[in-house]
Amino acid sequence: MIGSKIIHLESIDSTNNYVANLVKEKTIVNGTVILTDEQTAGRGQRGAEWSSLSGVNLLMSVYYEPANLSVEYQFYLSKFVALSLVGFLTSKGLNAKIKWPNDIYVNGKKIAGVLIENQLSGSNIKSSIIGVGCNVNQTDFGEINATSLKLECSGFVPVDEVLFGLIQCFNKNEGLLTNFKLIDSIYHSNLLGLNEERLFLVNGNRVYGKIKSVSQEGKLNVIMNDNLNSFDLKEIAFVF
Ligand code: BTN
Repeated sequence: MIGSKIIHLESIDSTNNYVANLVKEKTIVNGTVILTDEQTAGRGQRGAEWSSLSGVNLLMSVYYEPANLSVEYQFYLSKFVALSLVGFLTSKGLNAKIKWPNDIYVNGKKIAGVLIENQLSGSNIKSSIIGVGCNVNQTDFGEINATSLKLECSGFVPVDEVLFGLIQCFNKNEGLLTNFKLIDSIYHSNLLGLNEERLFLVNGNRVYGKIKSVSQEGKLNVIMNDNLNSFDLKEIAFVF
């Protein structure tokens, strides 16, 4: 069960790094959650940093061993995590959407991000480090297009409430990892911009397109100028 063991740290470089070290030492059990008040070198996707004010946001990593998940389906872990975040935020009354691949947006602003790092064994995923950063009580993000639960729910939200609510959603959704058809359909119905004409950045050019789907491998399928194109993470960006 996810969250059967929770380790709360005051400060650490990155909860994903902390889990990676425990994995190396073989001293971590499936489902362990690491939580910290502060990260000194928090990491985001594409090598970016993840910065957060101390003590006000959810900064956590889950160590998870999927039962029988082949590498070619690793994107289903992203879908599972994104849907769990959407599930929790929806329970708080928010209109949360997944911005492909697994950023979570509320009212056009990012509220949570996910960094998943998998350990492979042959063609299977042996274990996964699922890092989640969720803005809870931070209200100033400078130039960054971000929001938080406090801003969206108009009031303080205990970080623990988000932690335990999210853990509950993880456990509720775990079964989806064995039902790709169902997870795909729920993922698409929560996908930001599906079938909407939107502006994207492709090779430095602004192009209009319509998201049609996300493939099993996690590629974004977009119709542009009547052609269906398939993009991976580094090849396309949203223009807001
Ligand atoms: C992103 O949107 O770029 C992903 C952000 C992921 C941030 C979380 S915070 C907890 C965990 N530890 C890290 O160093 N990163 C993830």
